[in-house]
Amino acid sequence: MFALLARFFEMEAYFMTTPEKNEPEKNEPASTVERKKVIFSAIQPSGTITLGNYLGALKNWIGLQDKYDCIYALADLHTITVRQKPADLRRHTLEAYALLLACGIDPKKSLFFIQSHVPTHAQLAWVLACHTQFGDLQRMTQFKDKSAKHPDNVNAGLFTYPVLMAADILLYQADFVPVGVDQKQHMELTRNIAERFNGIYGNVFTIPDAYIPKEGAKIMSLQDPTKKMSKSDENVNASIAVLDKPEDIMRKFKRAVTDSESCVRYGEGKDGINNLMGIYACVTGETYEQIEKDFAGKGYGDFKSAVGEAVAEHLRPIRERYTDYMKNRDYMEHCWSDAAQKAYGISNRTLRKVMKKVGFVQPKCS
Ligand code: TYM
Repeated sequence: MFALLARFFEMEAYFMTTPEKNEPEKNEPASTVERKKVIFSAIQPSGTITLGNYLGALKNWIGLQDKYDCIYALADLHTITVRQKPADLRRHTLEAYALLLACGIDPKKSLFFIQSHVPTHAQLAWVLACHTQFGDLQRMTQFKDKSAKHPDNVNAGLFTYPVLMAADILLYQADFVPVGVDQKQHMELTRNIAERFNGIYGNVFTIPDAYIPKEGAKIMSLQDPTKKMSKSDENVNASIAVLDKPEDIMRKFKRAVTDSESCVRYGEGKDGINNLMGIYACVTGETYEQIEKDFAGKGYGDFKSAVGEAVAEHLRPIRERYTDYMKNRDYMEHCWSDAAQKAYGISNRTLRKVMKKVGFVQPKCS
């Protein structure tokens, strides 16, 4: 009982310093100070984190930390929609936590927790599932793709996956959700679920916007540039892992599939080169025109080497910091435990509101 009360007061204290923290001071005109916008996003710790994940999402997450209230999670509950070996899931979760810290997620600026540590996610997901139509979930392309890929395990969790994702986002009243383009359909569903719920019960949820980067929103496979670069690709040359060694990065870029022309320019039917130009632009900050100028008269071989070198150089400090974090499990445990407690405080406020609105009788101290 004492522990429960203590947790309740801690939660409330944290809340005083988050969403309300930018409320106007007593004599300040209300219009000059606004609540900081809330950012929420998550990534599955389902194995290798790729250059696609990094450029499409993580790099953005880092940049948003100074301006917004950022809340980030490892979506380990989502990961078990595909069968996992328990030891692998544990290892991948630990590695992903260290890697995201190494990429620049700063636990002093942002909440960075593990989804399964915060029970409100699964609780809200149930309530939202009861407000989501079967037909809407059936239309999700990711569900269709994944069920085709794992026909022996088309489980109910795979089907309701987008509802859990909606719960993740809506619990924190997020304004923006930085994701790659492959999550656009899930984001549209999240907005629909929130709008429908608000339509029935009044304004409960903030309607979130997807925040998709101009550059890097869809990094393609190096072996089949018409397909998204994916963690689960069986061809090791198709994707770059953030933790790949420089020599592996160079080798994979040198083998990247391009076209029969040899002029470095962006154009229709040049998926391979377009993808490499996109990656190069992301890591160097150069525009497509600059890239075309720099490589005028040079062949694809030179360009592929330059992309490989630029990516290896960009990822080098992340790899070094990752090794340090992996040696410091106590620090990581401290960070994720602290973040989970705070995330629980914030999300439980939304959950309590939802439960009341739906008509559940409230316990005395929930
Ligand atoms: P996940 O783990 O598949 O991917 C994490 C992030 O990486 C982006 N991404 C890419 N971006 C560009 N090019 C690529 N090739 C590429 N591959 C992946 C994804 O768009 C994503 O932003 N369902 C989510 C995890 C999740 C979530 C959430 C995200 C759970 N709850 C709430 C946002 C908000 C997923 O499976 O991402």
